[in-house]
Amino acid sequence: MFSTVFSIVGTALALASASAASALPVSSRDVWDPAIFTPTSETLWYIGQDYTVTWNTSNPPQEVTDVYGRLYLTQGDSGQAGPTLAQGFPLSDGEVSITVPDVQPALNWKVVLMGDSGDYSAEFRIESAPADA
Ligand SMILES: *[C@@H]1O[C@H](CO)[C@@H](O)[C@H](O)[C@H]1NC(C)=O
Repeated sequence: MFSTVFSIVGTALALASASAASALPVSSRDVWDPAIFTPTSETLWYIGQDYTVTWNTSNPPQEVTDVYGRLYLTQGDSGQAGPTLAQGFPLSDGEVSITVPDVQPALNWKVVLMGDSGDYSAEFRIESAPADA
């Protein structure tokens, strides 16, 4: 019985805060597109090896508690989503480990980190694994 009452109250509060939030400008609402720290323009990744992608978690939107991210590769300014590197990780972790997939070696790969919105890394280099790896 108490849980029913609480869930009704909770729903009313959620609706009230949702309508209050929709009156705010988008930038201060529930959009979180944290800035990527690594990879940087200096980064070199080898295909098949493991790396950590990191981003700034210091400024999450207040209305959002659990935001899960997706990380994928894109090349240059193509705007086309390449292979997914990771998904379903909490953005609040600030990092996720990935394994570089078998893509075309190039100098202009970027990672895209998607929360509610997306952030692009700098362009960086992916190479074939060195022979001694
Ligand atoms: C992380 O984001 C916060 C808030 O936007 C900013 O003040 C801070 O300088 C950023 N930290 C780094 C290391 O860029």
